[in-house]
Amino acid sequence: MIRKIKNYSSRSHKGWGRSLFLTAVLCVGLLAGCGSSGSGEKGTLRVGVALYDQSDTFISTVVQDLERAVQETEGEEGLKINLSVADGRSNQTTQMDQIDQFLSRGYDMLCVNIVDRTAAAVLIDKAQEAGVPLIFFNRQPVAEDIQRWDQIYYVGARAEEGGILQGQLVLDAWLQKRQTLDRNGDGILQYGMLEGEPGHQDALLRTEYSVKVLSDAGVEVEKVVSDTANWNRGQASEKVSQWLEEFGPSLEVLFANNDDMALGAIDAFQEAGAELPLIVGVDATAPALEAVKEGTLYGTVLNDAQGISRAMLDLMLALVKEEDPEQAVGLEDGHYVWLPYQKVTQNNLSDFLEGYQP
Ligand code: GAL
Ligand code: CA
Repeated sequence: MIRKIKNYSSRSHKGWGRSLFLTAVLCVGLLAGCGSSGSGEKGTLRVGVALYDQSDTFISTVVQDLERAVQETEGEEGLKINLSVADGRSNQTTQMDQIDQFLSRGYDMLCVNIVDRTAAAVLIDKAQEAGVPLIFFNRQPVAEDIQRWDQIYYVGARAEEGGILQGQLVLDAWLQKRQTLDRNGDGILQYGMLEGEPGHQDALLRTEYSVKVLSDAGVEVEKVVSDTANWNRGQASEKVSQWLEEFGPSLEVLFANNDDMALGAIDAFQEAGAELPLIVGVDATAPALEAVKEGTLYGTVLNDAQGISRAMLDLMLALVKEEDPEQAVGLEDGHYVWLPYQKVTQNNLSDFLEGYQP
């Protein structure tokens, strides 16, 4: 059974609680001027949220958290914020049409989880022409694009940090229980890598940095196999079923760029009745935390969905109030809000799973 996940985004709340309150109070006055273009009601902030793919586990969590944060803010402060959510279904043309619609209806702000990171420039130019601030999240456009206009923002976590923390989880395990991990006793860590979508900053950098932590620490590593499974549990399970036939027990550690793929790998091992290697993921989704509890997933790295959604909302409120976003949400380099990742294993699971006792 999946338990309720604790509210773990303490950093964002602590740092921003006061400014959010002030912002929200002041907003009531300012909002009379917001959203009044197009068919918007007075006093309503209308936000278009464009997702790359709503069926993605982590992304659907971010949206739910954003909807909840908006409701709470409305309830607390009597604000009206309308979120319109569009599913891009992994198609950049579809997403572009959805954004055109948001703009033609006179929406006040856009939150975009872009399908194709390299298509950002077109979108930014459209937003700038319409004078509508645009917050990218989770899928990071290149810096040159972000810098095209001062009303362009990115909210997310630093991809390499996720990889570093994942590598540390494996390094700690190797140092603590090398006897068990090094199944063939050759002193070398044989690993497989399940990669996310090709070209995604998180797939590229998590793959690179997770392994780099080990080699930098002097651990000899050997890649047995790697392939993409596009963040997807079913695809990962299929890939790993094939790996099992080919490489079987030679896999000592399995890195997955996200939790869904780690869970897919566990599915494949369990279906084959094979002994699980040490498996690590990223995200700390509810089913992944459950797998950590059961011990099938060794560890994961929290990708702070609540923090990301809270930061987006706080940034929007700061913009409405024309408050300095650097003060309000810790904006860096004029464009970026960064949320920290956190390591999760059975040792600290109680910080993330309500009612969990080691
Ligand atoms: C990553 C996350 C993946 C997937 C991807 C979508 O940050 O770890 O699970 O959601 O974003 O862009
Ligand atoms: Ca070995």
